[in-house]
Amino acid sequence: MESALFSPHIIKGVTLKNRIVMSPMCMYSCFEEDGKVTNWHLTHYTSRAVGQVGLVMIEATAVKPEGRISPNDLGIWDAAHVEGLKQLTHQLHKNGSHAAIQLAHAGRKSQVEGAIYGPSPIAFDHKSRVPIEMTKADIDDVIQAFALAARRSKEAGFDIIEIHSAHGYLLNEFLSPLTNKRTDEYGGNLTNRYRLLKEVIDAVKSEWSGPLFVRVSANEYDNQGNSIENYVQIAQMMKEQGVDLIDCSSGAVIPTRFDVFPGYQVPYAETIKRNAHIQTGAVGLITTGIQAEEILKNGRADLIFIGRELLRNPYWPKTAAQELGVTVEGPGQYSRAW
Ligand SMILES: Cc1cc2nc3c(=O)[nH]c(=O)nc-3n(C[C@H](O)[C@H](O)[C@H](O)COP(=O)(O)O)c2cc1C
Repeated sequence: MESALFSPHIIKGVTLKNRIVMSPMCMYSCFEEDGKVTNWHLTHYTSRAVGQVGLVMIEATAVKPEGRISPNDLGIWDAAHVEGLKQLTHQLHKNGSHAAIQLAHAGRKSQVEGAIYGPSPIAFDHKSRVPIEMTKADIDDVIQAFALAARRSKEAGFDIIEIHSAHGYLLNEFLSPLTNKRTDEYGGNLTNRYRLLKEVIDAVKSEWSGPLFVRVSANEYDNQGNSIENYVQIAQMMKEQGVDLIDCSSGAVIPTRFDVFPGYQVPYAETIKRNAHIQTGAVGLITTGIQAEEILKNGRADLIFIGRELLRNPYWPKTAAQELGVTVEGPGQYSRAW
């Protein structure tokens, strides 16, 4: 039996050696609070490349300093960030993986000191600060920051860019009627709420011709929020703009709790793939090779994003291959054990 998980995947001219993607996960390890890559990042990400992950995606990386979730986030708001990121992509490539970066702005969920920004002056919860309602000039500034970040991602040698539009961060806040109460052209109906993401995608594409992914929260877990049907529409609009893959996560737009169980977000990847006819990534409590194989072989998603299981086991691809009875190449240095 041919394994789907270990089959190569070509996306816009980039050939990934397998379908395993390391899901973006903040490490809060810029200890100097300067957004620069540290030894932690080099060790942590390179280990997963050694472990044979096809595509290693670097955590949410802030396009503006006030767009960091915490002061310890990675950044790409300054030319001085490129050098460390370049070292990182070099290590990933040398160890046989492709490299992706998730470009992010935390919006009203930023916990850095100073002013925080959002579409409307509504705090995330009672412990959070009220964001400043962004002016058109603030919006233009963020769009420009994403474009510059895309240019720097290219300079740093990344193969793929993902725009973070999930988990209640800035772009998600504009998309959702729960957080966007604006009355200008960036608020109101879906077309207007999509406008910022649309302009960010265009700005990124003006600097970047490689594969482009967008992560969304395809379920906002609130009747008044965007539905999966809305997200199918949003995915169709993204496809028209030339986005290559939708990475389907959910939640965190507002502080609601929801049920999580193995594969709980896979139906969103499947629905968007089938109805918007665009490639999707599945993520969320996918921990075994069999589970990944089922998702791919049933045509429910194109790539499998693994988060916490890769924190527990950087060699998860080897574990999954063993489970599926297939062989996966390992680093030569480990040949006596692999
Ligand atoms: C420590 C940690 C940090 C995370 N940081 C990010 C992030 O930077 N960007 C993002 O989109 N999701 C982030 N997530 C969510 C993961 O990418 C993933 O979607 C989630 O953990 C569910 O997948 P899993 O069950 O395989 O862990 C983070 C998750 C964890 C555990």
